[in-house]
Amino acid sequence: MYNLYFSPDSQQPLLKKGDFLINDKSGEKFPIVQGIPRFSPEVNYADNFGYQWNKFDRTQLDNFSNINISESRFYATTNWDKKDISTQSVLEVGSGAGRFSEVFLRTTNGDLHSIDYSTAVNANLKNNKKYRSRLFLSQASIYNMPYLDNTFDKVFCLGVLQHTPSFSNSVAALISKAKKGGEIIVDFYPIKGWYTKIHSKYLLRPFTKLLPKKILLTLIKINIRWMMLVFDLLVRMRMKLLTRFIPITDISNFPKGLTKKQKIEWAIMDTFDGFSPEYDNPQTIKNVIDMFKFNNCKITFAGTIKFSGGCATVVRAIKA
Ligand SMILES: C[S@@+](CC[C@H](N)C(=O)[O-])C[C@H]1O[C@@H](n2cnc3c(N)ncnc32)[C@H](O)[C@@H]1O
Repeated sequence: MYNLYFSPDSQQPLLKKGDFLINDKSGEKFPIVQGIPRFSPEVNYADNFGYQWNKFDRTQLDNFSNINISESRFYATTNWDKKDISTQSVLEVGSGAGRFSEVFLRTTNGDLHSIDYSTAVNANLKNNKKYRSRLFLSQASIYNMPYLDNTFDKVFCLGVLQHTPSFSNSVAALISKAKKGGEIIVDFYPIKGWYTKIHSKYLLRPFTKLLPKKILLTLIKINIRWMMLVFDLLVRMRMKLLTRFIPITDISNFPKGLTKKQKIEWAIMDTFDGFSPEYDNPQTIKNVIDMFKFNNCKITFAGTIKFSGGCATVVRAIKA
């Protein structure tokens, strides 16, 4: 399974020698740690996500939460046929703890190639150990993927692009790894209007992202219950507009069927997810469409999709 990787820079094949993947010609060397090839620097801007997904590794996984939200979102977003993707080459970019890897591996017989820039890959492997023979996981950046260009029939990237330093370069990188005629599917935080960034998340994140992760998480845990109470109260008083000034995730969007304990855990995790990232660049749908068109893609869908437990802003495109 290690002979699938290519040097992100030279695009030369890498061979496994001991605990390394090595390019014999240039001497480039990438470590395999805990069974996962690593192409990222040990410390990088996505460390908050590594911390988050290893602490909350099971929270959003359907098979642990007993809620079908990841499966419902994956198929509503992609509109893929389970039989088709069982035989195609598929790449996931930004897997986090592996909620969508799990859906793909559980509901198809196919192989999945998956990367994440952070140590979230450790949580993914732990969660999807039983599919190990079909999961080709590595720690790598969207900008330095260990694959040849024009390789994949399908590429999906969910919940990631707004958290990368350059949204447009990230879109171009995804497209570069798809075959001609291959499909690329992304979702992202939308800009809904001038008011999008008048929100506690955008106002406070420049400061909260600088806090040590442990301290930020503790602050959130200490305050989560009263924030949830005030949030619910404002919603019941038909003043949801004001909830944007409480530094908490939008708990009115949570899927139905969560227990009270799960709700609190989701609220803590999602709030950390909102206030800790280095980057958070929402986009208009038009901008994202233009990025795909600029890279020679045909748009097959752009808009909002609904799934049981939420909605997402999605663009689907085919590489010409
Ligand atoms: C909000 S999480 C979403 C994870 C998963 N897709 C999900 O929806 O549960 C964003 C993920 O993008 C990853 N990420 C951020 N920048 C990245 C990059 N340059 N290359 C690959 N992954 C990146 C983070 O490490 C993190 O796991």
